Amino acid sequence: MCVFAVWLFLGVLFCAPCSQCLVCPFGCECFAASHTVKCVSKDLLTVPQSIPGYAKTVIIAGNNILHIGPDSFVELENVSNIILSNNRITEMASHSFSALSNLRFLDLSENHLALIHPEALSIPGSPLQELNLSHSLSNFTALTDLITALRWGGLGGLLRLDLSGNHLALLPPGMFSHLPNLQHLFLTNNSLKAVYSGTFSGMNHLQVLDLTHNAFTTVSADALEELEMLGNIRILLGDNPYTCSCEISHFVAWLNESRAQVDVDAVRCASPGGLSDTRLLGLGVHALGCVVPVQEEADDLTLQTSYVLLGLVLGLVGMVFLFVLYLNRKGMKTWIIEMRDACRDVLEGYHYRFELDSDPRLGQISKDGGSGVRGHSGLDTSQQLPSDTYIVQLPTDTQVKQLTTSPHVKL
Ligand SMILES: *[C@@H]1O[C@H](CO)[C@@H](O)[C@H](O)[C@H]1NC(C)=O
Ligand SMILES: *[C@@H]1O[C@H](CO)[C@@H](O)[C@H](O)[C@H]1NC(C)=O
Ligand SMILES: *[C@@H]1O[C@H](CO)[C@@H](O)[C@H](O)[C@H]1NC(C)=O
Ligand SMILES: *[C@@H]1O[C@H](CO)[C@@H](O)[C@H](O)[C@H]1NC(C)=O
Ligand SMILES: *[C@@H]1O[C@H](CO)[C@@H](O)[C@H](O)[C@H]1NC(C)=O
Repeated sequence: MCVFAVWLFLGVLFCAPCSQCLVCPFGCECFAASHTVKCVSKDLLTVPQSIPGYAKTVIIAGNNILHIGPDSFVELENVSNIILSNNRITEMASHSFSALSNLRFLDLSENHLALIHPEALSIPGSPLQELNLSHSLSNFTALTDLITALRWGGLGGLLRLDLSGNHLALLPPGMFSHLPNLQHLFLTNNSLKAVYSGTFSGMNHLQVLDLTHNAFTTVSADALEELEMLGNIRILLGDNPYTCSCEISHFVAWLNESRAQVDVDAVRCASPGGLSDTRLLGLGVHALGCVVPVQEEADDLTLQTSYVLLGLVLGLVGMVFLFVLYLNRKGMKTWIIEMRDACRDVLEGYHYRFELDSDPRLGQISKDGGSGVRGHSGLDTSQQLPSDTYIVQLPTDTQVKQLTTSPHVKL
């Protein structure tokens, strides 16, 4: 009797809360054997309360939950996985998960996070190992919030982080520096065009970096330095719209030599048309449109420069010479006339003497007009000499003949 009363008392004492905790929340399916609670696509507006204590995995996906706060999850020591994907969560308040001291896996993918409290992700003891934020950030404000939350969250134990599909256009330097043990970082399906120095600083245990399906047209020297710093890890760079012009040759050279394990088969040119879908690995500088190797080009350039300089100097000297000539044009003219006359005189003198020697009639004329011999040393012979001595100015044979008769005509 007494024993029965004690059992009844104990039964009421233990079975009441126990039966309560074995009851599955409204809109959920509970699987004690697999320690799983599923509340999927039930239009739930809040996180269901009274989740059974045996639960290790809680799936609350495809509902209309807008807000996660410190009251959303009560203490559940056995919960290690929570999947909250595909809800409409816009706000995560401070210490939303801090009652879940063994939470290792948190999936917040496919949400619209706009407000993330700096301590939204902090859980005493830093148990979290994997965080999925794929397709979950609504805009850039959410990204800056997230960066603060990653810093303040005490996520030193995080090993995997998925930030894919968030329209990320840039990664602020040092963004991951408070995640020193991160091993897998997924940044696929964003809008990244560049990686700046310091982006991956402080990540000393990274094993996989996924940058596929972004907007890289090339990978800059800074970015290559940053990637090389990560060592021989797996780096996925495929499915980006690479432009295979000469500027990408540094990236190709890096692909040729890097110790990183790159998905080279997927790293292909998107443009220009002629190289479209060609693997970047192994492309030569000529195929990339670099006309001459950089060193020869430089040599060629200095040679060209010296030729151009020489040409300029010569041109300048020529111009100065012409200018001087121009300034002296009157003097030059006089000089040219003097020269011409001097030449003429010399030639005429020669002819004259020659013809005096050869033609006996001319000997006579010279006797008649003796001044002709004198005149041929003067400047203007036509003025100084009498008309009958025109012979001096016209040295050709026919004229000589004409002139030999002229004294007769005139006389
Ligand atoms: C957590 O799991 C352990 C072992 O399965 C169990 O003994 C314990 O009662 C569970 N905790 C709760 C709150 O149910
Ligand atoms: C994160 O969630 C998305 C969508 O639910 C899924 O496709 C992806 O595989 C998850 N990421 C990881 C690393 O498991
Ligand atoms: C981001 O979204 C939130 C809420 O939708 C809004 O309040 C905020 O102004 C947005 N920020 C930017 C930069 O668009
Ligand atoms: C990339 O994200 C867009 C939306 O942001 C989505 O529609 C698309 O399916 C995603 N692609 C991949 C390969 O995940
Ligand atoms: C990459 O390596 C190939 C041979 O493996 C070589 O022909 C090519 O010139 C290299 N490309 C660059 C940009 O160094």
